[in-house]
Amino acid sequence: MHNIPIRNLSARLVDPFQREYYYLRLSITDVCNFRCNYCLPNGYQPHPERDKFLNVDEIRRVVRAFAAMGTEKVRLTGGEPTLRKDFVEIVENIADMENIHTLALTTNGYRMAKDVAAWRKAGITSINVSVDSLNSRQFHRITGEDKFDDVMRGIERAFDVGYQKIKINSVLMKDYNDGELAQFLAWIKHRPIQMRFIELMQTGEMDHFFQRHHLSGQLLADKLVQQGWQLQPKGRTDGPAKVFSHPDYQGEIGLIMPYEKHFCTSCNRLRVSAKGKLHLCLFGEEGTDIRDLLQSDNQQLLLQARLFAALQGKREHHYLHQGDSGVRTNLASIGG
Ligand code: 5AD
Ligand code: SF4
Repeated sequence: MHNIPIRNLSARLVDPFQREYYYLRLSITDVCNFRCNYCLPNGYQPHPERDKFLNVDEIRRVVRAFAAMGTEKVRLTGGEPTLRKDFVEIVENIADMENIHTLALTTNGYRMAKDVAAWRKAGITSINVSVDSLNSRQFHRITGEDKFDDVMRGIERAFDVGYQKIKINSVLMKDYNDGELAQFLAWIKHRPIQMRFIELMQTGEMDHFFQRHHLSGQLLADKLVQQGWQLQPKGRTDGPAKVFSHPDYQGEIGLIMPYEKHFCTSCNRLRVSAKGKLHLCLFGEEGTDIRDLLQSDNQQLLLQARLFAALQGKREHHYLHQGDSGVRTNLASIGG
């Protein structure tokens, strides 16, 4: 199955601005069982005839081609990736691929308490969980699901089964969770959690919501610095988060501010959708279909050539500032 030695394959994923791509975000399903107000407020709308997501072999081939071109980190996203019945099989198929040292998962955590031991055994090396509020009623209001306690138990369970550090994502929203900083800080004081606050991004489905609830992360950054938090230097494969630490806290804070000026300078990620399209940016482009080159192991070189060619069309930055939210109606189809 893995008979072509990766080292012999050449081109690396470098774009015209000399950014190199180490990180693949791979969506394996659009389906989600939550209805987050900023993402799928009306829930996932199934399209039975169109819901043909990449199968295990196609997924293995995508990851293999990326790995051959220098990708070191893969994140499985959705929708909610763990809704797939073959989730563990998918993980097992890519976990020990040459060159991939980080296999991360983004999950809403709804079945983590039950399954996290199996995910770890299969090869998931790190986990991001969405927790937009630490108040269970507010959590319900935001996600449409009364699952706060399940998610919290899942996080504790993840520590129990051996994860050393968990990342938590929280979308900053005026009137929903902007008053909770003190609670979040208390929560991470003695826990190895990286608490990541993400600025609400505008998508095609929610102009009004965005106008009403968007909050700048800079206010939070200022508050943190005032309280003695210090900005950490960045590692090569780190994402765009600004990470702060504090001597009195075991946890860290990450800030993700896609509207900030130089956000795209350190871009190191590419995305593949659950139906096999390559996306160079979260916003503003149609995507390149690669599924036809995922049908046999013999197509790996063609696939690599297409990936490289597509990457040469990558823009220097997104155009969110000009109000261009791109073609994305929500982020569930491309995994945030
Ligand atoms: N703005 C910011 N983050 C979003 N996510 C989804 N939609 C949005 C949006 N409109 C992110 C959240 C969630 C992850 C799965 O995707 O961080 O935790
Ligand atoms: Fe589902 Fe994640 Fe979107 Fe919430 S943000 S609806 S958990 S895909």
